[in-house]
Amino acid sequence: MEDLTVIVLAAGQGTRMRSSLPKVLHDLAGRPLLAHVIDTARCLEPARIVVVHGHGGEQVRAAFPDPDLTWVHQARQLGTGHAVAEAMAAVRPKGTVLVLYGDVPLLRPETLRDLLDAQKRVPLALLTARVNDPTGYGRIVRDEHGSLRAIVEEKDANDAERAIDEINTGVMAVDADHLSRWLADLDNDNAQGEYYLTDVVAMAVGEGVAVASVHPREPDEFLGVNDRRQLAHIERLYQKRQSHALMAAGVTLRDPARLDVRGRVQAGRDVVIDVDVVLEGDVSLGEGVQIGPFCHLKNVTLGPDCRVLSHSVLESVTAEAGVTIGPFARLRPGTYLASEVKVGNFVELKNAQVGEGSKINHLSYVGDADVGRDVNIGAGTITCNYDGANKHRTVIGDGAFIGSDTQLVAPVIVGEGATIGAGSTITRDAPPHALTLSRVPQETREGWRRPQKRNKGEA
Ligand code: UD1
Ligand code: CA
Repeated sequence: MEDLTVIVLAAGQGTRMRSSLPKVLHDLAGRPLLAHVIDTARCLEPARIVVVHGHGGEQVRAAFPDPDLTWVHQARQLGTGHAVAEAMAAVRPKGTVLVLYGDVPLLRPETLRDLLDAQKRVPLALLTARVNDPTGYGRIVRDEHGSLRAIVEEKDANDAERAIDEINTGVMAVDADHLSRWLADLDNDNAQGEYYLTDVVAMAVGEGVAVASVHPREPDEFLGVNDRRQLAHIERLYQKRQSHALMAAGVTLRDPARLDVRGRVQAGRDVVIDVDVVLEGDVSLGEGVQIGPFCHLKNVTLGPDCRVLSHSVLESVTAEAGVTIGPFARLRPGTYLASEVKVGNFVELKNAQVGEGSKINHLSYVGDADVGRDVNIGAGTITCNYDGANKHRTVIGDGAFIGSDTQLVAPVIVGEGATIGAGSTITRDAPPHALTLSRVPQETREGWRRPQKRNKGEA
């Protein structure tokens, strides 16, 4: 919408968070509260997004280097009306202003579109809600015909007004020119000595200007964060939404309350996710993928029918179809697994490519390595990739067999079809199709006796 300016109020201190971090930088699903609000604003394709910052201003600004944001500094927090007034210099005249709050992160673009649609017919439209407990909110005062008359802040309200269960969410869409005029007339003659944005409603009514109201599509969308309890509550609501979206897309969740998504998840049909799983960053799960309990996946792409068994931790990993991982696997950044690879328990991989059908089933560390196809890496194999100063690569050819308890001291190449005898320390390249082993010769000492415990008192 090219005549729309979104103003995001984010200057408040957030005293009740009891934090040295500005409130809008607190984390919701892995990203700052303000990031969620800005994302929602972007969905509306406004001409401009103006963020009003104050407390911890530089820190807030530094967290959002995005070039499409206009920043306005409100040095003293004199009220929501004052904050919007400070932002008006950045607003296009003749357009529409949508006011959002940096600490109200759950509003949906659809709800805001409803509000903007209502505002097309009248100069001022408010997002209001009916609630069981209106404590703390501004109350929506209507006349006997149900027409909006004013918003009264709780601290200025009389008993009858306090009993009103329709509240101001704080979000409004308003004609920019009317708004400029009304803001210029605000005063701070009220219980809090603040310039209330909400006073523009009574001004509009006084001028005979029609005011519309719209309710959010979901009951909890307008909730804001003032303290850590509310933050936790909003996190749960957010996660519930994510779970519902995944299930709607054909994912089975063993317990929707025990999945946390901190980023974006794409999932094919018939993905099954067991309990206590955290998905972070960009996660893509192919059709039929199964994630076992207690897994943590960050920036992971899994092809169809991959299985991640319980207690596995994956970061920056790509796996093709039919790969099995875990239980208790740790796959670190730069891991690429071709199709049908098996990575078993207590295996750590880092910066390693593993070819089709290869198996690393038990207790191994493979780092900085290129492993071919159909390779079998026995239990307890270690690539010694670090000499204390530099990292070196290990290359293992197709069809090689690495016996258990082998150390591959990089840089080293194991040829195609080579066999490494168990317990070897390989320091030089192993030729293809041959057996290579390094071994201390086995000896037996006949007649050797185990040391005996001394008797007490003996020296
Ligand atoms: C405001 C509304 C109230 C509504 C409630 C919804 C006013 C006068 N009241 O009250 O009707 O029910 O929100 O939550 O608008 N802010 C600034 N600069 C300021 C003051 C506030 O940027 O000078 C920002 C805050 O960071 C916050 C938002 O504006 O994000 C709301 O401010 P807050 O003080 O929490 O308003 P409420 O008293 O809750
Ligand atoms: Ca508030």
